[in-house]
Amino acid sequence: MAFTAVLALLAGARLAVSQNSSFPTSTAAANATQTSSGTGSLTTTFELSVDDFWDIYVGPVSTFSINTTVEPTAIPSSSLIPPPSLYYPPFPGGQQVPLQTKNESWQFPKDFWYGVAGAAYQIEGAVKAEGRGPSIWDVLTHRVTNYIVTNDTGDVADNNYYQYKEDIARIAALGIKTYSFSISWSRILPFGSGTVNEAALAHYDDLIDTCHQYGVTPMATLYHWDLPLYLQNTYGGWLSDSIVADFTEYARIVFNRYHSKVHYWFTINEPIVFCGFYPLPQNYFKATTIPDVEQPYWCGHHALLAHSSAYRLGKSINSSLSISFKTNGGYKIPRTDSSADADAVQRAWAFNEAWFADPVFLTGDYPSLLKDFVSGFLPDFTSEQIAQINGSGDIFAHDAYTSDFVMAPDSGIAACVANSSNELYPGCYNTTKLYAGDYWAIGPAGDPGTPWLNKATDWVPVFLKYIQDTWKPRGGIAVSEFGISEPYEELRTSLPSILIDPLRSQYYVDYMQAILIALSEGVNVVGTLAWSIYDNLEWTSGYSVKFGIQYVNLTTQERYFKASAFEYVNIIEKYLEK
Ligand code: NOJ
Repeated sequence: MAFTAVLALLAGARLAVSQNSSFPTSTAAANATQTSSGTGSLTTTFELSVDDFWDIYVGPVSTFSINTTVEPTAIPSSSLIPPPSLYYPPFPGGQQVPLQTKNESWQFPKDFWYGVAGAAYQIEGAVKAEGRGPSIWDVLTHRVTNYIVTNDTGDVADNNYYQYKEDIARIAALGIKTYSFSISWSRILPFGSGTVNEAALAHYDDLIDTCHQYGVTPMATLYHWDLPLYLQNTYGGWLSDSIVADFTEYARIVFNRYHSKVHYWFTINEPIVFCGFYPLPQNYFKATTIPDVEQPYWCGHHALLAHSSAYRLGKSINSSLSISFKTNGGYKIPRTDSSADADAVQRAWAFNEAWFADPVFLTGDYPSLLKDFVSGFLPDFTSEQIAQINGSGDIFAHDAYTSDFVMAPDSGIAACVANSSNELYPGCYNTTKLYAGDYWAIGPAGDPGTPWLNKATDWVPVFLKYIQDTWKPRGGIAVSEFGISEPYEELRTSLPSILIDPLRSQYYVDYMQAILIALSEGVNVVGTLAWSIYDNLEWTSGYSVKFGIQYVNLTTQERYFKASAFEYVNIIEKYLEK
């Protein structure tokens, strides 16, 4: 199978694809225009296949020896024995299991779902297999010097593209009943739109069917940051409103194919984060004239339109689907009781969760503190767009890893808002992990590679209550990602030292207990997804930062359960309504 597209070479921007079109034959032509520095243009025509596209923009990629779908190997029963209890009294001798207490007033409702999550580029590998087109992350990892601190790529990752049956069998063996994965857009549509790649659709068919075979509920995310490269190079990706139609078309193909066997859908993952990747590094993608400071908000605008359009489409295909977008962030604790810090907290909500949650759950439009800024350059949503966006979320799916103290900038909020060169502009709030006094942190720190992440589980009940009271999601709240990078895990070289992950274990126990507290206070939490099913490519941190409840030996691609996997399952089983 071959896919082709139109390529143009733009002076000053090195290579950028100028127009999106695709051809159903293997011999289609492509127009390329090279503009010489302002003195005229030279046009030529040539053919561009998916392979050409890879060669020009990414170059050679690595592969792994297991390169066809494999049946699961038997899971050794010894690896399913839970780890010894964490605490041992010194006397009397021998392993002691302390009395397990249970708070009888806590309970997870019977239909509470608990699972694990991963995302295509972070786990699949097999990046060129069966017609996948490149995404922006193939360029970021292969071509942009120092973008990934470790020079890692997703070429092989966890080889999930071929080992997914084993991966699903393993979580089922643990007793985990839900698996959240993302679909790679550029597998389904190698150039982002146009010709559909049936091999990719068949792959996800089998992945979904395998979930059902093991009694695992599949949950699918349409977009977890791996934007088809062609769309970035053609029109600037999320910076252009052209993305709305292309995303909707992609959603149509996927919903049509899987709606009868996947009930839970997430459209876009963490728009605050992926829109924050703009501006992308210069000279690798299509150049843009949009000022840097505006780019995340143009992206967010189109993300809201794309999400809501896909939501309405999905519901028209199958009204029973649960469709939501995933947002992210932590509780925002005023660092002092000053009114300036209280104002800073309001700004922090407005420029984070409320940026997407107010439009979807409350008003169809931005919160006023954000609108004061974006109305200077973004078009107003039309009344049709407001109607489309408003109500386009069935559950409030939140990736809630940690929390922060929030305070006003040293120069004051007003001075910051008036000064676009202030480093905190346009949000004009500041954050810290330290309590006032600058001595104690909010909780134990994760790995130094994730300075944004401390264990702050004490703040989870109030955070969940805040979400419920503020956005009143009709389908409740899902903690759609949570987890912690065990500090210095990458320095551990022996398997037994890797497999006992005490901070992550405690994090899951305390976090689930915090959810139980919230539930007992009437907060409607419907499910959790631990990040992650196993260690994977942590984006710009490469493989150096570990979030897995399983360890993966990247040389052999063998998987091993860590202690946290058992702690997560145990605390749920202990409190799950029978
Ligand atoms: C959220 C993102 O969705 C995921 O891709 C990432 O690996 C985790 N956070 C951990 O940083």
